[in-house]
This record gives sequence, C-alpha cells and structure tokens, in this order.
Amino acid sequence: MADLIFKDIKVGFIPDTEVEINNKKYLIHDVINGETIKVDASKKYPELKEVIKKSPYRIDYKIDECGGCQFMHITYDYEQKLKTDYINDLFKGMYFNKIELIPMESPYNYRNKSQMTFKLSKTKKVVCGLYEEFSHNIITANNNILQAKKTNLVINELNKILTKNKIRPYDEKKREGELRHVYIRYGFNTDELMLVLVTNGEILHGRNNIVTDLKKANLGITTIVQNYNSRNTSIVLGDKDKVLMGPGFIYEACGDFKFKISPLSFFQVNTAGMKILYETAIKMGNLKKTDTVIDAYCGVGTISIFLSKHVKHVYGVEINKNAINDAKINQKINNINNVSFVCDDATNYMTKLAKLREHVDVVVMDPPRDGSTKQFINAIKYLNPRRVIYISCNPQTLKRDLYLFFENDYVIKNMKAVDMFPRTIHSEMVTILEKDDELELLENLVKENQKNNTKKYKENKIKYIPKADIEMMREDKYEANGFKKDKKRKY
Ligand SMILES: C[S@@+](CC[C@H](N)C(=O)[O-])C[C@H]1O[C@@H](n2cnc3c(N)ncnc32)[C@H](O)[C@@H]1O
Repeated sequence: MADLIFKDIKVGFIPDTEVEINNKKYLIHDVINGETIKVDASKKYPELKEVIKKSPYRIDYKIDECGGCQFMHITYDYEQKLKTDYINDLFKGMYFNKIELIPMESPYNYRNKSQMTFKLSKTKKVVCGLYEEFSHNIITANNNILQAKKTNLVINELNKILTKNKIRPYDEKKREGELRHVYIRYGFNTDELMLVLVTNGEILHGRNNIVTDLKKANLGITTIVQNYNSRNTSIVLGDKDKVLMGPGFIYEACGDFKFKISPLSFFQVNTAGMKILYETAIKMGNLKKTDTVIDAYCGVGTISIFLSKHVKHVYGVEINKNAINDAKINQKINNINNVSFVCDDATNYMTKLAKLREHVDVVVMDPPRDGSTKQFINAIKYLNPRRVIYISCNPQTLKRDLYLFFENDYVIKNMKAVDMFPRTIHSEMVTILEKDDELELLENLVKENQKNNTKKYKENKIKYIPKADIEMMREDKYEANGFKKDKKRKY
C-alpha cells in the first residue's frame, strides 16, 4: 500500500498516535498533537515518513532507534509542559495545588551511567549498542545524546580495540561468545571513569591486550573491572568481579560530599539532578536539628549524608550488602558521625521498629520503581513520624502508595517534580506527607465520646459529635483525596 496521510492527529503524553490501516491499528512514534503526517503503509509496521504540517514545538533531531528518548523531537520547554500536565492530571483529586516541575539546566549528556551490549557488525567489527525498544535487537549507539560525552568517546575507542583483538561478542540466542556488555560509570565532578566488561564466565581471551590498549589510548579511564555473568538473564551485571586496573571503583562528588561508586551499587544516574532532588526534598521536608530520621532504601547513603547536616541522627536502611558497605565508606570519607547504616529489607526494618515503638520524627523513603509495601506504610502509622518525605521515580506506584498513606491518616502537604531524566518520559517526584491533625482530633473526640461524660470531656466542653457524622466527615475527606466513597473504613 502507498503512503497515507493523517490530519490533525491526537497525541497524549507519550508521543505516539494510533492510526488505522486496513482495519488494523498501528502506533506511529515521534509525533506531536495537531500535526498532519504522512505514513509509509508499505512496511509491515507502518512508520512516519514525513510531517506535512509541523507543530511549532518540533525540533530537528537524530533518530533515536533504541526508543529510550521519547521527547527528542520536541523542544525542552514543551517537554516540561507535557510532563507538568501529565503529573498534575495524575494526582488530580489527591493534591489540590499545582505541582511544579523543576527543570534541568542541561537536558543532554547528563547520564553518569551507561550500559551497552555487543554484537558483530556485517563487516565483522565489534560494535556496542542499546537494545531496541521492546526487542533484543542491538542498535549501535556511538553518539548517544543522554550519556556523558566522555563515555561516547570511550565507547568508540573500545569498539576499535575489541575488533583489533578479535573479541567474540556473546550471542544471546546461541548462548556462545565471551563478551556480553560494557557498563560505564563516569564522575562528572571528579572526572573518574570506571569501565566494566561483563563476560560470560571468567575467560576473556585477549584480556591483557585490551587493558594495555585502553591504557595506551589515554581516555581517562581510572579503573577497569571484569564482571562475570553467565546467567540467562537480561540483568546486565553478575555478582562477581575481578579488578583489572585501578581501584575497582570511582568517586563522584555532589554538593559538599564525595561518594564511592562500585559496579554493583545503585547511584542516581544524573549527578546534577541528584543535588537538586535532594536539596528540594530537604527544603520541602522542613527538618529540625532535633529530628531522628529514617532514610529507607538508602542505596550508598547519599540522602542520609545530605540529611546529616540538618538533623540529629539518620538511620539508613538498604537491602544490598555492597551498597551498605559503600554507604559506610561514604560516611567515613565525609567525616559524618550522626548517621548509621543497616543492611535489611526496608519493610522488615520498619516493622521491627514499629513493634518496639521506636521514636522517629521523619521518614524519608526512596523505593525502587515498584514502590513500597503495604506493611511498610502500615508500620509508619505505628511509628507515627511527624512527616514522611516520599521520593519516587515512578508516579504510578507513588499514586498507589499514597492511597495506603491515606488509609493510615497521612495526607499530602506538598508535591514537586524534578526533571531528573530530560528527553525521556520519566521524572522524579517529592511528596511530603503529614499526619492529618484534623482526623486525629476527630478520632480523639470519638474516643472521648465513647468514654462518655469523662471529666476531661466535660472540662473541655467538647460538643457531642455523633460517630456517624464523624464517619461522614472522614469519608468526605477521603473522597476529596481520591478515595472511593464505598471504601469500608475501620475505626
Ligand atoms: C531508587 S534507589 C534509591 C537509592 C538512594 N536513596 C539514592 O538516592 O541513591 C532504591 C534503593 O532501594 C534498594 N532496595 C530495593 N529493594 C529494597 C528493600 N526491599 N529493602 C531495602 N532496600 C531496597 C535498592 O537496592 C536501591 O539502592
């Protein structure tokens, strides 16, 4: 079939439009609301051929075949508008003020972490690239616009060195070959670079020559690590490492602090954004010098260390042993005395504290994309912190968890978004939750009322409030917070 024209297309937050061709529906990517487009319908999967009527928000861009940068065809201003509208829409009915999105100064080349996979090109060259969206096809990525410029230089040189040394890339289907992935971490503020070669087992023929050639190329690589991963999995790194050059880790500086990053521990991918995120959370958190704080899902202790200047003591909890080891080192190198780190499942830890009725003033939580757990949030009710600072990289799971907070009588006091991942659909959110004083007061009134005619009740001249009315007030409040009216509540 020839080309087809679609006029004034409709596009939501994700920049795709659905077109119908021969009673079948297809998604056309990289389009903008209101545009008129020409689609090449001769292909098995029809694709955008030409934009006939262009949106004023469209910019020239290089095709991003891996699909990781969904917003590279629009201006950064328009991206911010789309993200702001999306987030405000998502939390409508839960939070009543406008949620502001804090932009990044530089929306390109901000990623300090890159991971790529190898393949042999048609001309038998070793090349590394990114997986194409929703597939295991490898798309070469020599000049990725999100990763650090220095990383792009290293990748280009690495490809040449691997080709020269006749390295066999791992073939996922046949399950043969040696080299699977390259994983790079770059310290923007220290200029240190860690290159990790992930191999299928311990053997990498030509390993010494690769290291020698990389050293000779003088690329500013400060450490080289070999990581073994023989598992049939899409997870990039295995559990075991061998250091081939340098210390086996790098340092990155952020704010007033310095952090150790080793291959297996989590570190925010945007160092400049991380500083803005933490400072925003701390400012919104309105902390006191007397506060005891839990930093749950603490990674290598970065938030705990940022918090340490503002509070009495921080307890960081994290499930990954390597990350906790790094957190303890980070505490030492930054000379911090009012932080302690525990290696445990965050839910387990919170439940234990709740059983012991420990005193906690503020809980900071920054869970992975899947969000937190019902038990974790229930434990917060018993710990009764004055404030919860919820940092989330996934607004959808954040929304789910906020309902659980509402069930435990916490309400949203403030929300902001930080654009940690420009040019992609992702952003980070900071939400401040507090115990709802009004509900607590009502609950106390109910209790007083049940005791009926107690001395305190009389002295305070508390008016009789029928329990049914209080339940109604509660229901209204919850409905305003996005709850369904029929939700059964326990008192
Ligand atoms: C989004 S990261 C945040 C890390 C850190 N707060 C930061 O800003 O760098 C989430 C962290 O939670 C950890 N994690 C995942 N599941 C966990 C669990 N059940 N209990 C404790 N930590 C967990 C991960 O290892 C990861 O370090």
